[in-house]
Amino acid sequence: MNIYNNIADIRQSRWADPQLSWGLVPTMGYLHEGHISLVERARQENDRVGVSIFVNPTQFNDPKDLAVYPRNLERDLAMLQAAGADLIWTPTPEQVYPPEYQTYITVETVTQVLEGAARPGHFRGVATVVAKLFNVFQPHRAYFGQKDAQQVAVIKRMVQDLNFNLTVISCPTLREADGLAMSSRNVNLTPEARQQATCLYQALSAAKAAFEQGERSANHLRQMMTVVIQAAPLARIDYISITHPDTLMELETLEQTALFSMAVFMGKVRLIDNMQMVS
Ligand code: PAJ
Repeated sequence: MNIYNNIADIRQSRWADPQLSWGLVPTMGYLHEGHISLVERARQENDRVGVSIFVNPTQFNDPKDLAVYPRNLERDLAMLQAAGADLIWTPTPEQVYPPEYQTYITVETVTQVLEGAARPGHFRGVATVVAKLFNVFQPHRAYFGQKDAQQVAVIKRMVQDLNFNLTVISCPTLREADGLAMSSRNVNLTPEARQQATCLYQALSAAKAAFEQGERSANHLRQMMTVVIQAAPLARIDYISITHPDTLMELETLEQTALFSMAVFMGKVRLIDNMQMVS
């Protein structure tokens, strides 16, 4: 496994044998099994796997959130070695955003709702850094988690609109035994908030069961999820939403597919989760 922070070294390693296919897994580090599942999938589908570890400052709309973002590079590298990654990029913020940096990517409509509405500028930072990662690695396939469903929709839109020559692959959400979606942010939960944080999965599961039994009213399904979340004393709902999975437009009546998604503060920590429903 090669680890570099220089772009020239990454490019040299990437193009050492131009015949090989490459998968890329972009991350912000503090890796867990969810990230590793993306690396394993990339491992299965490509000759070589590249991973980036970069806590991207431009996607944090709240500087306090950036300051408390957990980091552990040594452990991350050990996990990536075990998972069979080939090439790791660990750039500094100055390498990604040198002085005089002034180019950003704005994906329009699909970033204006949900996470984009709650976190102004977030997807501008995500799209910009991911475009740079695509240019540096030039992968054949790039792997993202369905956990961040809107991020997948935004990246797919950008890839199509800017003609990036790669396939975006969306991978299932890995969960803890009690259903909580794995997230680097979970370590910031207090023990009480951690215990109650299962309410997100419970709410989504209740809505899924109702959907499978034929409920098609978005209002009823949203209300059902709200009641489950509100039963957790430390929970404060940011949004609960039912949208089209690609356009992220809110639905009134559900048809074949829908994305159920939510953001909930558990104490001070903001968690997101979602499930895609297909009838
Ligand atoms: P990060 O939060 O580190 O996540 C890296 C990738 O892991 C993302 O594609 C995310 O959706 C996926 N992931 C996170 N939790 C997961 C889980 N429980 N199961 C499966 N996959 C999971 O997302 C980012 O970083 C950044 O925005 C990034 C794309 C790297 C751009 O900076």
